Amino acid sequence: MAPASDPSSFASPSKCATRHLNLTYRVNFDRRVLKGNAALTVEVLEDKFSSLTLDSKDLKIFKVCANGQAAKFALGAQHRFKGSPLEITLPFELSRGQHVIVEIDYETSPSATALQWLTPAQTAGKTHPYLFSQCQAIHCRTMVPCQDTPSIKHTYYAKVSVPKELVALMSALRDGQEADPNDNTRIIYHFRQPVPMPSYLIAIVVGALESREIGPRSRVWSEKELVDRAAFEFSETETMLKTAENLAGPYVWGQYDVLVLPPSFPYGGMENPCLTFVTPTVLAGDRSLAGVIAHEISHSWTGNLVTNRTWEHFWLNEGHTVYLERMIARCMESEQLRQFKGIGGWKELQESVDEFGANSVLTNLVPNLDEVDTDEAFSSVPYEKGFALLYHLEELLGGPEVFMGFVKSYIQLFAYGSVTTEEWKNHLFTYFKDKVDILNKVDWNGWMHTPGMPPVKPQYDTTMADACSTLCQRWVKAKEDDLASFNKADVKKLNSPQLIEFMALLLQEKPLPLTHVKRMQEVYQLNDVVNAEVRFRWLRVCVRARWEEAVTLALKMATDQGRMKFTRPLFKEVYNFPKYSEEAVKAFKENRGALHPVTAMLVAKDLKVDGN
Ligand code: BES
Ligand code: ZN
Repeated sequence: MAPASDPSSFASPSKCATRHLNLTYRVNFDRRVLKGNAALTVEVLEDKFSSLTLDSKDLKIFKVCANGQAAKFALGAQHRFKGSPLEITLPFELSRGQHVIVEIDYETSPSATALQWLTPAQTAGKTHPYLFSQCQAIHCRTMVPCQDTPSIKHTYYAKVSVPKELVALMSALRDGQEADPNDNTRIIYHFRQPVPMPSYLIAIVVGALESREIGPRSRVWSEKELVDRAAFEFSETETMLKTAENLAGPYVWGQYDVLVLPPSFPYGGMENPCLTFVTPTVLAGDRSLAGVIAHEISHSWTGNLVTNRTWEHFWLNEGHTVYLERMIARCMESEQLRQFKGIGGWKELQESVDEFGANSVLTNLVPNLDEVDTDEAFSSVPYEKGFALLYHLEELLGGPEVFMGFVKSYIQLFAYGSVTTEEWKNHLFTYFKDKVDILNKVDWNGWMHTPGMPPVKPQYDTTMADACSTLCQRWVKAKEDDLASFNKADVKKLNSPQLIEFMALLLQEKPLPLTHVKRMQEVYQLNDVVNAEVRFRWLRVCVRARWEEAVTLALKMATDQGRMKFTRPLFKEVYNFPKYSEEAVKAFKENRGALHPVTAMLVAKDLKVDGN
């Protein structure tokens, strides 16, 4: 079958395919650029091949060679989010099956959307600058000219020159280091990624990093100020890897390290091969990071080994990963915990559907992404509608063990490849060939190509959730006279996930009266909670109740850390409090320079602030 074209890329994966990338970088903190060279080994897939198109965005291209001969090149018109196609004309013609090495000398831009350059003041150590990348979904093209589509997979090697007091890491195996022969203030780090992977998984970090061993194939990396705490909190990593291997098959990436980033990292976690990136906001001392690590570990199979063919099939990555993550919770904790997480997930899906509107095509499980910026389309929908579909199928087809058998066989069949929803569905029908009558009753069009909530709501065990909804309803129904009946013991009975769920339920209700929220602070002392998932919901509850003192705390949390899941709703919540709208805009403008480029772009959109 000819690969479907990718609406988020200018490269044509059906004409040629990159098989390997050789990268050389010199990291320049003064100018905030990466200067270097990318050599792509490209396999030709058609006869009379003499030109190719790569993705690029904000790159300065100096020179292109093909098999060592200078090649003509031109940058096409700049597209709002896709960047500029880099058209390369070869000085010769090739036939199907031949290979060509395309070598590009180039430099990135200081405003590359894949990169955030931090000043020493933005780090924990306050002495050295810091650089990190985030390529998913379509930002790799701002750091490498490439076929920036997940339908293409290749290996990569890299050599990175950095000031010698800093350490460079990439989403690959560490392969030694040497003094930079051209500059005695620098050191060159070598990397090797022998497993073919899509471009969005290329990642780099440079900073004053230290590490601790946390298992036979794992280290944790961060600035030294955090490293011991991180090593302690990530001590379960190897148990989780083993649990995942039992469910999904062997871990093929060799090393599994974790990097704890500075607070502006825009996501909770990112599954960069060999080196998961995580936000420091997961360090709360209460195992709340377990879910994030279980999720990123699971991507080692669903996402990194079996990859969505285009971003329209993103639910294949995230839905299966959430399914595996919750299977790990079932194995390491209990089935009740998995059920509890299912209930929480359904509620998050409801929130995303409310946010986008139940008619929005972005709430389809398989959306059309023609002219849609993947960052603007991002939401819980692929995660939770995807999970709900898989869980619904599990219920129909015979339970967790039976359905996990299918997921494992899907991973085996498509390992090292990229898949579409159609191919996934075909395999489902093949695997359950004795149960096609059941599968034929599923409303596939309703699940996959219709906006809004799914056509069926799965059943979940409510044992763990009941305590949360009971307490929520007590507060919602309480009259002034009832407020004295609340005490500290109410929340002592809840664990962290339940406290989060309690807060999430409050956010689904009408705003509480200010008296109630003040009483809640008095008895539960929620302003002191460090768990970011609890704190961010609590501050929203307060702002919604129009508690003016919470505005400062909400804006402080929105800017002290930059995880988009927290920062965007916090800014929006304050913005929607009319008296403080301008305060929110002011706080955003004052902090814009320190925000991650993607976070800045999306918050500007949320607060209706225009560019720059
Ligand atoms: N791969 C995603 C993060 C991502 C998705 C970055 C799309 C850019 C574009 C990662 O695996 C993820 O889902 N992270 C979650 C973790 C959570 C589900 C446990 C997050 O960041 O909140
Ligand atoms: Zn994920």
